[in-house]
Amino acid sequence: MTDGTDTKSSNQMWGGRFASGPAAIMEEINASIGFDKKLFAQDIRGSIAHASMLAHQGIISTEDKDKIVHGLNTILSEIESGNFEFSRRLEDIHMNIEARLATLIGPAAGRLHTARSRNDQVALDFRLWVKEELQKCEQALTDLIAAFLERAEEHAETVMPGFTHLQTAQPVTFGHHCMAYVEMFGRDRSRVRHAIEHMDESPIGAAALAGTGFPIDRHMTAKALGFREPTRNSIDTVSDRDFALEFLSIAAISGMHLSRLAEEIVIWSTPQFGFVRLSDAFSTGSSIMPQKKNPDAAELVRAKTGRINGSLVALLTIMKGLPLAYSKDMQEDKEQVFDAAESLELAIAAMTGMVRDLTINTARMKAAAGSGYSTATDLADWLVREAGLPFRDAHHVTGRAVALAESKSCDLAQLSLEELQAINPAITDKIFDVLTVEASVASRKSFGGTAPSEVRKQIAFWRARN
Ligand code: ARG
Repeated sequence: MTDGTDTKSSNQMWGGRFASGPAAIMEEINASIGFDKKLFAQDIRGSIAHASMLAHQGIISTEDKDKIVHGLNTILSEIESGNFEFSRRLEDIHMNIEARLATLIGPAAGRLHTARSRNDQVALDFRLWVKEELQKCEQALTDLIAAFLERAEEHAETVMPGFTHLQTAQPVTFGHHCMAYVEMFGRDRSRVRHAIEHMDESPIGAAALAGTGFPIDRHMTAKALGFREPTRNSIDTVSDRDFALEFLSIAAISGMHLSRLAEEIVIWSTPQFGFVRLSDAFSTGSSIMPQKKNPDAAELVRAKTGRINGSLVALLTIMKGLPLAYSKDMQEDKEQVFDAAESLELAIAAMTGMVRDLTINTARMKAAAGSGYSTATDLADWLVREAGLPFRDAHHVTGRAVALAESKSCDLAQLSLEELQAINPAITDKIFDVLTVEASVASRKSFGGTAPSEVRKQIAFWRARN
């Protein structure tokens, strides 16, 4: 391998602003070792599986295979212990490892690259990495779901205002609200599981793009590397980055969920709402205002979503005009995925901690649940059920009751029976049974509704589902 560094002066025609010559700039734009060294373990695993298959098929000798495997294991421990010198001149992780192997074991190292190319090699390494990352996400989401299930159980009866348009709508239980997030993160987790299924095919053996004339056994390498089966088209194999895009899409959707949760925590922890108090562990103070407790972790989770979305759009854009099969553009896939993965892992972990640690102010929630005429729908429903009014008429009658209460600055339940009967004579004192927030939530027993009994059923469902 030649030394790409050119210490000569930069190009005379256009190089005024460049400190180094064209070869150095080429090296800088071309090298990926700065970030793809993250793939070292996958690269070595892939090479060991490939070499073993080559020997099994009689393409290389067992003796050479043993040397290769031994050398690769040495390199693995060198890298893991920080005793490996990565070189930008060697471009990427694949060539860094192969060059070191040559130093360690001599000519046998040159046989490792038989019947493969860096194109299928990078596709393999990256797939293995993304698959492992998806498995980590699956676990992290399971932990987050568990945190919510615990809070939901604890607060199955705690009433709070339910919102639409962030305006008080109807009373709900905090347990029910928690279970909404269980549904969201549960969907994310099943997307993760599907993606693992989807990408569970081994790329190695597609070679540069056309397959190979050597009698390789792709089923053997697929099995050795823990894939379900080999990919079925060598051209597609080296040009496909759908697995990375699926990861990023899932990360973007999950990031959006995390951001909505973060936003709720930011709002709820304001003194104006006062629904929750953040633990010291997940908040910071202000350097100037001593009274403040800031929800920095939640805000940063909200912000990480922007980075993840950026990564998705970046990779979609990188891939969108590429002719088949491999193009070097695809080298830009890794940083996007690595960055998004780091952001997502951190965001899920921070949210799991925050949810576990939140102190819930049930008194504030209850007081807010009853304000803003939140049981108006219960009044209308009562008129339909007990007085036989069509819902539209009941809605109108209730609107008049709300207007009256508003003019008197009181709650619906504080209106007298006479006042209510003046609006509609069919109203009886039974109405007061449905105007409390507890009665309101207890009545919403429809499947998936907010009644504590129903929330408990859904908690049991999710506990069994894990
Ligand atoms: N570093 C390259 C990448 O990440 C490896 C594949 C290079 N293949 C090639 N034909 N130049 O995409």
